[in-house]
Amino acid sequence: MDANDVSGELASLHYTGAEVQARVKEIAAQIDADYEGRRLLLVGVLSGAVMIMADLSRAMKSHCEMDWMAISSYGAGTQSSGVVRILKDLNTNIEGRDVLVVEDIIDTGLTLAYLIQNLQSRKPASLEIMTMFRKPEALSSSVKVRYVGFDLPNEFVVGYGLDYAGRYRNLTDVGTLAPHVYS
Ligand code: IMP
Repeated sequence: MDANDVSGELASLHYTGAEVQARVKEIAAQIDADYEGRRLLLVGVLSGAVMIMADLSRAMKSHCEMDWMAISSYGAGTQSSGVVRILKDLNTNIEGRDVLVVEDIIDTGLTLAYLIQNLQSRKPASLEIMTMFRKPEALSSSVKVRYVGFDLPNEFVVGYGLDYAGRYRNLTDVGTLAPHVYS
């Protein structure tokens, strides 16, 4: 679905599907160059990163492997709970591996800070982060992000993997959810 299909449910549109895809291609090219000759493992954070993982990996020209983690985040609300739990761990032993964590969005960075600390303790050869979207608060987080798709305002956004109560992940465009949808 695109923004036209849910126009009454969005307060504003930030990026079209075409803009997202163009940016994903740019980042894929950068990753290809940065990891040339290395054996890259992409770690996607479920469920939001499904769309970016699928598009980013297919836009890359070099081989990569993929694995997934699931950690708790907002649930059905629109505020970060700060409570992080591993719901599904990796199948891969990442010791000595070049790991790139693929995220949908970084808001407070709380989720990611926990995840990075956890992964770092497994002694990867390198550990970097790619996020498709970043909110302003993320800039004050201690976590260093290597690749960023787009910056977003401090609003609750949906689309391209980002959900509200499990919906809108399949929206190809990215926009701010209208308050009447969740109030
Ligand atoms: P953080 O711990 O505050 O950085 O939250 C990160 C997680 O919260 C993301 O992986 C998303 O699942 C979710 N999240 C943060 N902001 C939004 C949003 O605007 N829309 C949908 N999900 C969001």
